[in-house]
Amino acid sequence: MKNLKENIDNFLKEFNEDIKDLNSLERLKEIEIKYIGKKSKLHSLLKIIGQLNTTEEKKEAGNLINNLKVNIETQINNLKETFQSKEIEEKLKQNSVDFTKPVFVERKGSLHPITLIKRDVDRILTGMGFSLVSGPEMESEYYNFEALNIPSTHPARDMQDTFFLLNEMILRTHTSSCQSRTLEKYKPPLRIFAPGKCFRYESIDASHETAFYQVEGLLVDQNITIANLIGTMKTLLSEIFTESDVEVRLRPGYFPFVEPGFELDIKCIICHGKGCSTCKNTGWLELVPCGMVHPNVLKYAKIDPEKYNGFAFGLGLTRLAMMRYKINDIRYFNSGDLRFLKQFR
Ligand code: PHE
Repeated sequence: MKNLKENIDNFLKEFNEDIKDLNSLERLKEIEIKYIGKKSKLHSLLKIIGQLNTTEEKKEAGNLINNLKVNIETQINNLKETFQSKEIEEKLKQNSVDFTKPVFVERKGSLHPITLIKRDVDRILTGMGFSLVSGPEMESEYYNFEALNIPSTHPARDMQDTFFLLNEMILRTHTSSCQSRTLEKYKPPLRIFAPGKCFRYESIDASHETAFYQVEGLLVDQNITIANLIGTMKTLLSEIFTESDVEVRLRPGYFPFVEPGFELDIKCIICHGKGCSTCKNTGWLELVPCGMVHPNVLKYAKIDPEKYNGFAFGLGLTRLAMMRYKINDIRYFNSGDLRFLKQFR
């Protein structure tokens, strides 16, 4: 019996030693097998019972061993629970859900209405054999005015209120500056178009902005006539408005770099000429300023006006976008207002 008690004491001492630095559930399982499993230390203790003489002693020994078993089992189970709840806690920490966080909604961007209309015009003009060119938004007075037959003293400079910069440059008032740049660089025959941003010192309201978009068109070749200009405009505008054949009319218009110069109107695409609020009851929409390239513009670029001539037009992209998408206030374009922009998916 004494032997058994000593054994139990040692058993407990060893067990306590083993669970002292316990740090994982795996290790606890090993300890469980070692102390109360089938081939465990507890099992070998049971063998002692058989060696005892009296029933009394056997009973006492049985009790002691059983108490020991219950004691160890309880301790192991308690430890298991602690480990498991720790593990759950750990997992919860890692995958925790914060219900107060703002919900992430995937936001897809969309193209700006000007981009959409510009892409259309690019596609159509490229299809008609025009090549895309570009020029700087910060421009010299020479390309913006001088080389377009608008000398510094010319009253026509007043037609376009200009932003003058401190470095003696200006913000281009129209894409026509791309005409003078192209003519200087490339020789005829040529067909180009130049979409881009222009700037004018305007008082801003629903139809005036300081920054807006135009597309310049220029064709220089031999024996070009007004009929070529009209034909090109009709094809371009019919494609833009997806009409089989838009009706156009020309009125005289003054621009120093074209002669003769025109305002090209189209039959109102809303009321088809009957009269509505869009065309202010006239049945016509003023749409494209244009004309035959002025000989002086060619001379500036050292092109012989006796040999070559051509036409030019300036399409208001912002105006086109307003017409196509029925936008009644030009200020929406640069507003950055997502409620406006999201409509053009
Ligand atoms: N550049 C002119 C403007 O902005 C428009 C124009 C372009 C007129 C080409 C004639 C030919 O007012």
